[in-house]
Amino acid sequence: MTDINPPVIAVIGLGFVGLAAALGFTEKGYNVYAFDIDVMKRNGLKQGKIPFYEPDMEEALSAHLNRGFNLCESMEEAISQADLIFICVGTPYQEGGGLDMSSLISAIHGISRLKNRDHFKGIIVKSTIPPGTIRGILKPLLESVGFEVGCDVGLAYNPEFLREGNAWEDFLKPDRIIIGEVDSRTAGLMEQVYRRFESPCVRVSPETAEYLKYASNALLATLISFANEQAMIAESIGDIDITQMFHLLHMDKRWSGFPARMSHYVYPGCGFGGYCLPKDTLGLKHTASMYGHNAKMLEAVMQVNQDIADFTAEQIIRLLNHRDEQIGILGLSFKPGSDDVRNSPAARIIDLLLDEGCTNLTAYDPVAMFPFRNHYDFPIRMMNSLHEITVSSDICVIVTAWPEFQSLAYNTSGIKIVDARFMLESNKTIPKEELQWEEGSTK
Ligand SMILES: NC(=O)c1ccc[n+]([C@@H]2O[C@H](COP(=O)([O-])OP(=O)(O)OC[C@H]3O[C@@H](n4cnc5c(N)ncnc54)[C@H](O)[C@@H]3O)[C@@H](O)[C@H]2O)c1
Repeated sequence: MTDINPPVIAVIGLGFVGLAAALGFTEKGYNVYAFDIDVMKRNGLKQGKIPFYEPDMEEALSAHLNRGFNLCESMEEAISQADLIFICVGTPYQEGGGLDMSSLISAIHGISRLKNRDHFKGIIVKSTIPPGTIRGILKPLLESVGFEVGCDVGLAYNPEFLREGNAWEDFLKPDRIIIGEVDSRTAGLMEQVYRRFESPCVRVSPETAEYLKYASNALLATLISFANEQAMIAESIGDIDITQMFHLLHMDKRWSGFPARMSHYVYPGCGFGGYCLPKDTLGLKHTASMYGHNAKMLEAVMQVNQDIADFTAEQIIRLLNHRDEQIGILGLSFKPGSDDVRNSPAARIIDLLLDEGCTNLTAYDPVAMFPFRNHYDFPIRMMNSLHEITVSSDICVIVTAWPEFQSLAYNTSGIKIVDARFMLESNKTIPKEELQWEEGSTK
C-alpha cells in the first residue's frame, strides 16, 4: 500500500458484483464512491442493510460505510472525483434476443453526459457482456458523443468470476484478474489498483476477456448437464447407485492433477480418438437408447468431434493456392506417446482432404507411420523426419501434439503451419513434458 496517489474508484450498480467490488476496493484501502439507481437499495445500504444474503458482507458494510465507502445520491457525485469507474449493472438474458444491455448503455450515457472532460477517467465494465461489445458497441458509443478513447476517456473490460454465497472472499482473493485492454492508460491504472490483491493479473484483448467469462460459465453449465444426463441414463438402466458412482468417478487421478490434469481435457485440439473414448461414448449412447433415453449430450459430443475435423480441414483448404500443393500431416497417432492410430483424428482429416481433391499428402509421425500404413489405405507418402516433411511441404498441419513439433514455434523456413493442437502458443503455459497428457489420453 505504498502508492503515492492511489486511484479514486467509482462503482456503478450495487448488486452482488458491484457491492462486493465497492466494499472490496475499500477493504484494500481505496476511496470508493458508489451509486445504484435503486433508491430503496441505497436507503437500505445507508442503514447498514444489504439487500441479499451474502456471508461477511454486512460486517464489511458496517466497517466501511462512510469510512472509505461513500454512498452517493447521484451518478454525478459518484464519478466526479473518480479515476476509474467500474460498471456493475445487470445484463439479464432476454428471451430470444441475447443479453439486455439497456442498463449498461444507460450507465455509459449517464457517465458521458456528466463527465468533466479535463480529468481522464477509465471506464471499466465488470458486467458480463457478449464478445465484441467493448470495441464494437461501447467504444463507438463514447466516440459518438465526442470522446477520444485512450485520450480523454479510457475503456476496459474486467470480467468478474465471483460465486454468489462466496462473493466477499472471491472478490478479495480472485483466482486471476483479467484486464481486457483497450487503452494502456486505463489498463495501467487497473494494474496499479489490483496490485494490492496478490492474484495473477493478465492483460488480454477485450474480446478474449469477454469470451473467457462466457466460456467459463458455459463450461460449468456443460459439466452440470453432463452429470445430470448421466443420472437420467443411470435411472433408466436401473440398479445403479448414482451417488456412489459419482464419488468414485471423482477419485480419478486427473481431478487432483497427477499425472494428468483435467485442464488438459478442457483444451481445444482437432478431436479425440483412440480406442476407448469414441467407442464408449457411442456405446453408452446406444445403451441409453435401449432403455428409452435419448442421450442428447453424448450425441452432441460425437457430432462436435466430427465438426472439429471438418473445421480443421477447411482451415487447411483455405490456405492452399491449389489442390496439388504439398500438405504435410504432422502426427498420425491419436495422441502423443502412443502408436495407436485407431479412430485417429489424422485419419478423419486426411479423408476429408482427399474428398476435397487434395492430391499431394505426406505424413510424419515419430512412431505411428507403420501402424497407420497397416490400418488405413490412404494414398499418402510417409516422410522420414520432421525436417524432411517441413522443408518439402507447402503447408504443415500439427494433428498430434508430439513434443518434437514444439520446435516449429521457431519456424524460420516460412512454411504455413496449421497448429490444430494449439501447442505452439501453449508452451508459455503448459510445460512441454506434459503435452503428452492431452485430450483423448484416457484408455
Ligand atoms: N451474480 C453473480 O454471481 C455474478 C458473477 C459474475 C458476474 N456477474 C455479472 O455482473 C453483472 C451484475 O450482476 P449482479 O448479480 O450484481 O446484478 P444485480 O441485478 O444484482 O445488480 C445490478 C444493480 O445495478 C443497478 N443498476 C441498473 N442500472 C443502473 C444504472 N444505470 N445506474 C446505476 N445502477 C444501476 C440495479 O439497480 C442493481 O442494483 C451482470 O452482468 C452479471 O451477469 C454476476
